[in-house]
Formats: sequence, C-alpha cells, structure tokens
Amino acid sequence: MISIKNDVQLGKMRSAGHLLYDILQQIREEMAPGMTTWDLDHFAYDLMRRNKAVPCCLGYEGFPATLCISINDEVVHGIPSKHVTMEEGDIVSIDTVLSLDGWMADSAFTKGLGKIKPEDEELIRVTEECFFTGARMALDGNRIGDISSAVQQLAESHNYGVIRDLTGHGIGKDMHEDPAVPNFGMAGHGVRLRRGMTICIEPMIARGHWQVHQLRDGWTCVTNDHKPAAHYEHTIVVTQGLPELLTYPGFAWPEAVKGENNI
Ligand code: MF3
Ligand code: CO
Repeated sequence: MISIKNDVQLGKMRSAGHLLYDILQQIREEMAPGMTTWDLDHFAYDLMRRNKAVPCCLGYEGFPATLCISINDEVVHGIPSKHVTMEEGDIVSIDTVLSLDGWMADSAFTKGLGKIKPEDEELIRVTEECFFTGARMALDGNRIGDISSAVQQLAESHNYGVIRDLTGHGIGKDMHEDPAVPNFGMAGHGVRLRRGMTICIEPMIARGHWQVHQLRDGWTCVTNDHKPAAHYEHTIVVTQGLPELLTYPGFAWPEAVKGENNI
C-alpha cells in the first residue's frame, strides 16, 4: 500500500531529513584515512542519540550498526568493524536511516578519501547526477518507470552497471514502504506518482558489470567483478512542482530545470 503524507506528517519527515543532512555532513568531515569504520559508526551513533534521533539501521533485520559503510567494490550494506580501516584512495559509501518522533529519513553518499583515481571521481560524480536526473522526473502524474529509466539511461551512457538486485523505496513511519523504486526500467510504466508520496531514490552504480553477491556476513553486497561502486540517496516528497529533497535542506532546482517544468 502506498501512503500519502499530509502536511503535518511531511513536517515531521522534513525535521528528520534536515537532521540527517546535518549528521551526514559531520560524518563526511570526520571520515579520514587511518580511521576504522567502527569508530566512524560510533561517531554517528553518538550524534544521533545526542539529537534525540533513533538510529534505525541498528537492529533492522539484525543489522548490527548505525551506518552501512561500503568500501570500493562493496556496493551497500557494509558492516562497520574494528578490523576495517579506511585508506587513502578508497571510495567509501555511507548510508544511514534515522527517525525523529517516529518519522524516518534515509540518505547516502560516496566520498573519495585523499587522492583517488580520476575514473573513481567520475563514477561518484555520475552516480550523483543519476540521482538528480531521476529525481527531476518525480512529478505528480509521472510514473516510477520515468525515474528508473532516466537513471538507467544516464548510467549506461557512461558504460556503468546499474545494480538490479536492490532498489529505492517508499518511506515514512517505516524504512521501506511501497512502491519499490528501481534504477532501471521503462518510462511510462509502473506506479503513478502523486503529491504527498515520499520515496527514496538511490542509484547504486558500478564502474563495471551490475552483477553482485552477498558476503558470508549476510549483509555486504559486493560487485562480482570487484570493480568499485558508488551510491547516492535522498528522501524526497512529490509536490505540485519539482520534488522537495527532504534530506538536502539547502537544495534548489536549477532555473533551467524549473523552466522545463513550467515552474
Ligand atoms: N538505507 C538503506 C536502505 O535503503 C539501508 C538499510 S539496511 C540496514 O534501504 F539494515 F542497514 F538498515
Ligand atoms: Co534507502
């Protein structure tokens, strides 16, 4: 079932989203070569608790941490560990969910540590661009497939692989609500979008092939060809005009995009 959020509920999701943005900014600054993923996870846990937020990944289907931290060929759902140190040249994806007053926000980004390969820089840049290209299709009356196909076309135009095993999703009082939001598909197909729908768009893009497998830890998702992957995600709400990015408070759509949509 797809739920439509009213203004009061959206206000709560906005508060959760803005807090998550602040926390992810601090995490982005804290990340450094030589740091263990365990220490970064604790940093995030403390920040959430100090702000009265609930770290929702912790305990979700048994996931043991606040952050999913996925390095290089790890796509998503990496488990923080005392034995994993982030190194110069790594690309590190951070994905987390928090709730405030029972309402969830979910966001992810990939950061290169120190000097990284230009081709990894490009992968991160295009993955972010995939998000925005998809998100601008999240218009009242459009369909999920309009988002999916926009993401897929941009990624594949760069010869990247679009992860198919995992998708974006609706969000609200639950972390995962209907509808699923795949990063591949056909324009004009799928569920119709309506004002007040809140969804997470989260391209997971690999520099090689899209096939992935799960490690024996039951969580970490890794590319089969061990080429690096990037992830970028925001929680958004469908509006009368272009979507509002609930987990990116300062964001404004470029005038050119507004013009195309007569806004
Ligand atoms: N943000 C992720 C998701 O999309 C994370 C969840 S998995 C968890 O949906 F177990 F870590 F919570
Ligand atoms: Co998500």
